[in-house]
Amino acid sequence: MRILRALMSNRSIGKLVDHYSRFSPSPLSMKQFIDFGSENACEKTSFMFLREELPVRLANIMKEINLLPDNLLRTPSVGLVQSWYIQSLLDILEFKKKNANTEEVTADFTDAVIKILSRHNDVVPTMAQGVVEYKEAYGTDPVTSQNMQYFLDRFYMSRISIRMLLNQHTLLFGGKVQVNPAHPKQIGSIDPYCRVTDVIKDAYENARDLCDRYYMNSPELKLEEFNGKEPNKPITVVYVPSHLYHMAFELFKNAMRATMELYGDAMEYPAIHVKIILGDEDLTVKVSDLGGGVPLRKIDRLFTYTYSTAPRPQMDTSRAAPLAGYGYGLPISRLYARYFQGELQLYSMEGHGTDAVIYIRALSTESIERLPVYNKSAWKHYKTMQEADDWCVPSKEPKDMSTFRSI
Ligand SMILES: Nc1ncnc2c1ncn2[C@@H]1O[C@H](COP(=O)(O)OP(=O)(O)OP(=O)(O)O)[C@@H](O)[C@H]1O
Ligand SMILES: [Mg+2]
Repeated sequence: MRILRALMSNRSIGKLVDHYSRFSPSPLSMKQFIDFGSENACEKTSFMFLREELPVRLANIMKEINLLPDNLLRTPSVGLVQSWYIQSLLDILEFKKKNANTEEVTADFTDAVIKILSRHNDVVPTMAQGVVEYKEAYGTDPVTSQNMQYFLDRFYMSRISIRMLLNQHTLLFGGKVQVNPAHPKQIGSIDPYCRVTDVIKDAYENARDLCDRYYMNSPELKLEEFNGKEPNKPITVVYVPSHLYHMAFELFKNAMRATMELYGDAMEYPAIHVKIILGDEDLTVKVSDLGGGVPLRKIDRLFTYTYSTAPRPQMDTSRAAPLAGYGYGLPISRLYARYFQGELQLYSMEGHGTDAVIYIRALSTESIERLPVYNKSAWKHYKTMQEADDWCVPSKEPKDMSTFRSI
């Protein structure tokens, strides 16, 4: 912490952040990611790109961290997160003036990238902890909650994007040749022939294991697929299988929990139905359950961070992963979907069940990173006070109509 304070008090850090945040991040397309990793994969090119791009992405989001309420910034958890960002920015900037033609320099850079990846491993739970501490100490008002949601969406999206860059670099140049035997064509974390159905089935099986552990039973999977482009071929897409897995796993856990809670001790449970459809523009995966659904009024709330109807799990790593409880499943999954210009939506019928739909761009040329940028519009989000609603707010109690009649 002492080092952090020394760093924080250093005005030159603020200047560096100001400087790099004036540049906009450069979103990469799936095609560019693949080109980086194909035959002409070159550690030097990747190094030269990353040493320019990483400081920009880090600084852009660091400016937004600085706009958080003072009391949140003062929590130890947020302080820790900030110190990681500062340290990583400095680590990268070390390489700014180094000779890119020296193998030793590029090798050192790759080591630095690996270090940064592991330094930032716990950013999500640590930031979440800061938010919980802040909410418990100071409560929340609608404006702060809205700002927090806006910030966390952007902060976690920025993190997904930075990790994607770091991961690609380490997988491609991190020493050990890391060919995934099941997917030899994979380029870093991207599979140009990602078999969607396999990933979905895998996610189902793992969610089912968890569900069996908690409820001693689990709903079956009924899966249908339709390849609208080449009807007799399996559906493939250029994508990051681990991202697709993450989303599907979260949706399955939610669908299973809803089903098991609704059917209690019944011996049979309605199956979870999945449809996977490939069209010209979209690859769509729909996960449908009959777990009783959620009223429309609450749907938006399900995407807010920390919203959960499950009991909060113990922070005890020796226990098995919980099926639910942190309230991060849906919002983070939606970020993964949006990261490459997709979407994740819930359609629910209260009293019946829920359809959760993942949309992914079918064309890799359309899959381009969606990145937050720090600018005046972003700044305004944090500084604008709550304005009056421009729609009438109905009062809870119906007005006595006789008042109107007497007019
Ligand atoms: N298919 C569903 N049917 C009914 N309710 C759902 C469904 N999916 C989500 N929910 C509701 O939305 C809430 C938030 O879901 P989310 O996945 O974000 O968090 P969680 O499941 O509670 O915890 P975790 O972070 O472990 O996923 C759930 O607690 C649940 O109340
Ligand atoms: Mg969940």
